Amino acid sequence: MQMAKEYGAIYTIWSLTFPVVIASGYEAVKEMLINHSEVFSGRPVTPFYTAIAHGKGIVLSNGHTWKQQRKFGIATMRKLGMGKKGVQGQIEDEARELVETFARAKGQPLDPSSSILASFFNVICALVFGHRYPVDDKDFLMLVEANDYNNKFGGTFFHLMYEAVPWLMKHIKWPYKEAFAAVDVVLSHARKETEAHRAQLAVHDPRDFIDYYLLQMEKSKNDPTSTYDDTNLFYCISDLLLAGSETTSATLQWGLLLMVTHPDIQEKVQKEMEDAFGSSQTIGYQDRKKLPYTLATIHESQRFKTILLTGNPRQSLQDVTILGSFIPKGTMVIPDVHSILFDPKIWETPRKFNPNHFLDKDGKFVDREELLIFGAGARMCLGKEMARMELFTFFTSLLRAFTFKLPEGVTDVSLEPIWGLIMSPQRYKLCAVPRFSES
Ligand code: HEM
Repeated sequence: MQMAKEYGAIYTIWSLTFPVVIASGYEAVKEMLINHSEVFSGRPVTPFYTAIAHGKGIVLSNGHTWKQQRKFGIATMRKLGMGKKGVQGQIEDEARELVETFARAKGQPLDPSSSILASFFNVICALVFGHRYPVDDKDFLMLVEANDYNNKFGGTFFHLMYEAVPWLMKHIKWPYKEAFAAVDVVLSHARKETEAHRAQLAVHDPRDFIDYYLLQMEKSKNDPTSTYDDTNLFYCISDLLLAGSETTSATLQWGLLLMVTHPDIQEKVQKEMEDAFGSSQTIGYQDRKKLPYTLATIHESQRFKTILLTGNPRQSLQDVTILGSFIPKGTMVIPDVHSILFDPKIWETPRKFNPNHFLDKDGKFVDREELLIFGAGARMCLGKEMARMELFTFFTSLLRAFTFKLPEGVTDVSLEPIWGLIMSPQRYKLCAVPRFSES
């Protein structure tokens, strides 16, 4: 943001061997991602990510493969996403499980991170594989650990060195052994699940992402332009697990931490839920309009403690001029989301946690387009609606069941993130104090 003050809303950083163009502020980011959506719909083809993904799947693919896989992904998420029998029901079940896990601690201090991650991971497993796993299942734990490793490796020193000087780093195998092995764990599991789905021959009555994909493969087997094949399927599975678990998990961890540090806001959320629904009626995602303050609190926690270090990198697919700056075809660009989320011209109190940012003067919820945490344009997050459904369901279920407090004697807790591609909070403990007796 300091650089933008000095050099303007669009400026270049040299990353050892290649230039990266940064778009800073809402005007520049919107111009790039929304007004020139197609031009910037490429993902950079970088040495490390090419070595692990080979341009397959959704997140790291480009061109025809990306277009087909993404279109299929969106359509399938829609088919599987809504309705009590679909993923919405699975989300509600997982939220209930998490409430029970927290309840077992009986108000004593607990570290919520691994149980939250397991819950969100299981939601994606249900979507993709058609079933959840017991949280102590060996395969499940291996998958979660490998996924976690992949997420944490991105943005580390050795990752960035590989991107900058791959010819050198290819000779130093040891820092990358684990990263490549973690990718293999996820892909092998995807292969195993796919074979099990094939053996069940349920593709004409598809139940999950794999079934729909196998059906699509069959439909397009005579189409020479089809990119529906096993390898793309395995990478799509890996993408969904990677993109859809740590993101939501880190967001909810921040949300609970902010409730602990802002008990007045926590109380207002609980009061709003009680006034609208009493203490026993269940709250569904379809009820969200009746809870403007709660919705505003969730959105504000995503703004105030955004989990993104930056927006995801893109690549220009043709020469283009943005706000007077020429950007050649093939340039890596990064939208600086922080410059928008903390802009004093957009937010009344950018450095303060303030749900009023998402309320109008009558207390109605306002969904602000400047909250660009899911990206924008052609490559916008594919799981945005699902993530919103998950965060609302988990947040309301937990805050209805418990009041969250710091453990006795603890007066301070760090709000500094662990720096990485996904910025989660430092490990912390809280007490989930039951609000209602178990009668
Ligand atoms: C709070 C939760 C989440 C956040 C903040 C988030 C954020 C993002 C962002 C910033 C991008 C990059 C968009 C761009 O390039 O402009 C993205 C892409 C993506 N997200 Fe999410 N995401 C979340 C949850 C999910 C979930 C739950 C899923 C899947 C079930 C998911 C699947 C994807 C996929 C597949 C892409 C790649 C899209 C493409 O390259 O075409 N995300 N997400």
